[in-house]
Amino acid sequence: MTGREVVVVTGAGGMGVAVARRIGSGRRVVLADAYPQVLDLAVETLRAEGYDVRGRITDVADPVAVTGLAEDAAAEGRIAAVVHTAGVSAATATVEQIMAVDLAGTAHVIDAFHAVATHGTSCVCIASMAGHYATLDPARERALATAPSEQLLSFEPPDDRTAAYILAKRANQVRVQAAAPAWNRLGARINTVSPGVIVTPMSRAEAASATGAQMMGMLDACGIGRAGTAAEVAEAVAFLTGPASLYVTGTDLLIDGGQAAWLRWHSPYVSGQ
Ligand SMILES: NC(=O)c1ccc[n+]([C@@H]2O[C@H](COP(=O)([O-])OP(=O)(O)OC[C@H]3O[C@@H](n4cnc5c(N)ncnc54)[C@H](O)[C@@H]3O)[C@@H](O)[C@H]2O)c1
Repeated sequence: MTGREVVVVTGAGGMGVAVARRIGSGRRVVLADAYPQVLDLAVETLRAEGYDVRGRITDVADPVAVTGLAEDAAAEGRIAAVVHTAGVSAATATVEQIMAVDLAGTAHVIDAFHAVATHGTSCVCIASMAGHYATLDPARERALATAPSEQLLSFEPPDDRTAAYILAKRANQVRVQAAAPAWNRLGARINTVSPGVIVTPMSRAEAASATGAQMMGMLDACGIGRAGTAAEVAEAVAFLTGPASLYVTGTDLLIDGGQAAWLRWHSPYVSGQ
């Protein structure tokens, strides 16, 4: 339909719903998630709040499904924003799931929406503060940034899930960076947002895991003394998908309450103080 603006949000969890609320007013929201129960509840909640939202079951690990999502969304109007929040965490997913969803899934979203992006489309992929901790050799980082998406799962995966998550999230950051010139040529933009600890179902599961106490302790140690909210991430997404950031593309916005800064310069785990 002509004249309609469409916002696509993958992931109907904590951040996805907050983003839909923040940038979805007056637009058609296409909300995608792999899990029908999660998706239906989010669609019902947003509709009750007055949003024009349509749910679409999509497994982002499946490139055919993501292409279908992009083509359907483009048929509904001009895609103003694509915000990719669908993902799994190191606390609950296997190495294979992390590689398929967080690594390859993000590459599929970048590819499929590049094909339907038009002048003014802004894409934001949610990476993670974890990506800032990666220490990959330059050849590996280049491959993660630029290899065709279908090759990403043929690289040797890390042994453990935390390392897989860090690798996948660093890959999200550098892949978006590498993709930006092609989006520029369409008059479109693409960036990552890297959250620290944000209160959502995902971080609640992490807080309850074996490393949860250490994760929450770092928030006190870095001086911020609290986790972030999904609304704070949505605010950054609104900036990156709005008119105040037209010269911002191919970059990453870290929203972590200063945790990465503390880890780099003051943490006893890292500096040996
Ligand atoms: N919450 C945090 O503290 C935190 C910190 C850093 C990064 N992140 C990242 O932010 C993003 C959003 O996380 P969140 O906190 O909103 O988590 P969440 O668990 O609340 O939401 C994630 C959503 O993704 C969906 N999903 C999972 N696998 C999928 C798949 N294969 N295809 C489609 N949908 C799928 C889940 O059903 C869920 O609704 C994730 O990429 C996560 O890694 C979260």
